[in-house]
Formats: sequence, C-alpha cells, structure tokens
Amino acid sequence: MSTLLHLDSSAERTASRSRAITAAFHAAFRAARPGNAVVRRDLHADPLPHLADASLHWAAGLRPAGASPEPAAEQLQRRLIDELLAADVLLIGVPLYNYSLPSSVKAWLDHVHVPGQTAPSALSGAALAGRPAVLVTSRGGDYDTGSVNEGRDHATPVLELILGEEMGMCVTVISAGLTLAASVPALAGQVERGERQYAHALRQARDLGAGLGAHRA
Ligand SMILES: Cc1cc2nc3c(=O)[nH]c(=O)nc-3n(C[C@H](O)[C@H](O)[C@H](O)COP(=O)(O)O)c2cc1C
Repeated sequence: MSTLLHLDSSAERTASRSRAITAAFHAAFRAARPGNAVVRRDLHADPLPHLADASLHWAAGLRPAGASPEPAAEQLQRRLIDELLAADVLLIGVPLYNYSLPSSVKAWLDHVHVPGQTAPSALSGAALAGRPAVLVTSRGGDYDTGSVNEGRDHATPVLELILGEEMGMCVTVISAGLTLAASVPALAGQVERGERQYAHALRQARDLGAGLGAHRA
C-alpha cells in the first residue's frame, strides 16, 4: 500500500486543466493497488496563511537565538511537514499565474521547505531523497522551445529547484500548454496543438499514476 499526497491550486473550479490532469493521476494511483490511500489538500479552496515567522524556515535546532514562533504557526507547519513526510508520492497541480507560482503554492512551499527537516543540513539527512514528486503545470500560452514565451515559465524551475535539488525528490513534470487557445484570438491557430498537449498530459498522468501506484512502498 502507498500513500499519495494530492495538492491542487487552480482558482478555476470547473474547467481547470491542472485539476483534471491531477484527478486522472489520482484515479489511476488509487486503482493500481488495493489499499492505496490519498490525502488531498486544496490549496486554493482552503488556503494556508503566509509563513508567520522567518525562524520557521529552520528546524528548531538551527533557529536564531531568541526565536519564538507562535505555537499555532509551528503546529500548522508540523502538520504540513508530517503530511509530506508520510506520503510515498507527491502530486501538485500548478497553473501558471503571472509567469509564476500561484501564491497558495508558494505559501505551502514556504512552510514545508525547512533545512534540518525536509532538506539536508548538519542536523539531518535527506528525509525525502528519491521520493517521487509529480508536478502538473497548465499554462495559457505557448512555452515550447522557440516560442516567444520560451524561458518565461518561472513556476516550474522554482519547484524543480526546491523539491528536486534542495529536498532531493525525484521530480517529473507533466505540462499542458495553450489552454487559452480557444479564447484568446492571438492563439486561435493553436487550438488543436493545445488539445493534443492536453490529451498527452492526461495519458502521461494516467500511466504515471498507475505505475507509481503499483510500486510497493
Ligand atoms: C491570475 C492568472 C494569471 C495568469 N497568468 C498567466 C501567465 O502569466 N501566462 C500564461 O500563459 N497564462 C496565464 N494565465 C492562464 C492560466 O495559466 C491558464 O488558464 C491555465 O490553464 C490555468 O490552469 P487551470 O486550467 O488548471 O485553471 C493566468 C491565469 C490567471 C487566472
């Protein structure tokens, strides 16, 4: 039995492509093995506060002298970190907003990226090393190689850096671009390409969800 931590963040409740793709992964993961469990957190519907105190960026033994974060803020952070550490697989749906992360995902990241707990330090090793993290990105425009927006997605690199390089997780990115092709006149000629990318992303999510769900934790 394996546990999936499934996070979504789109502010679109009905037609969100990132939510549809994470849902496809979720369903395949659950179906892959009896007893597979999913913990779900909707970062948009149930938003987290900003990190309350800078000292919470560090594990207790690494905090500056005199640091005294609010107990309630520390408890919330503990709950989020425990949720992440208990998951065999992390799945995050991340729409591109203003070339960046939704602020709801940034708030989650600020709580869980903690040297000495979720990232290696003098106090601890790499608790999450090698654990799979699946990042589902949806972007209104075209960010493919050679496009005008190439290199302007500033959400994916941040998540790859923190989850992958800092925390040591094994990050896979599934992307659906051109999601606004049917509604933005300048993208009108790209509707089919956007639909193909979406169909491909759904297939990738189903295949990866089934594969990671079948893997014995
Ligand atoms: C606040 C906001 C900002 C956005 N900024 C961008 C952007 O910078 N680049 C882009 O390509 N699309 C942008 N979009 C479009 C979304 O990336 C696109 O609609 C995507 O499909 C959203 O994910 P979802 O389908 O899961 O809701 C923005 C949408 C919103 C709501």
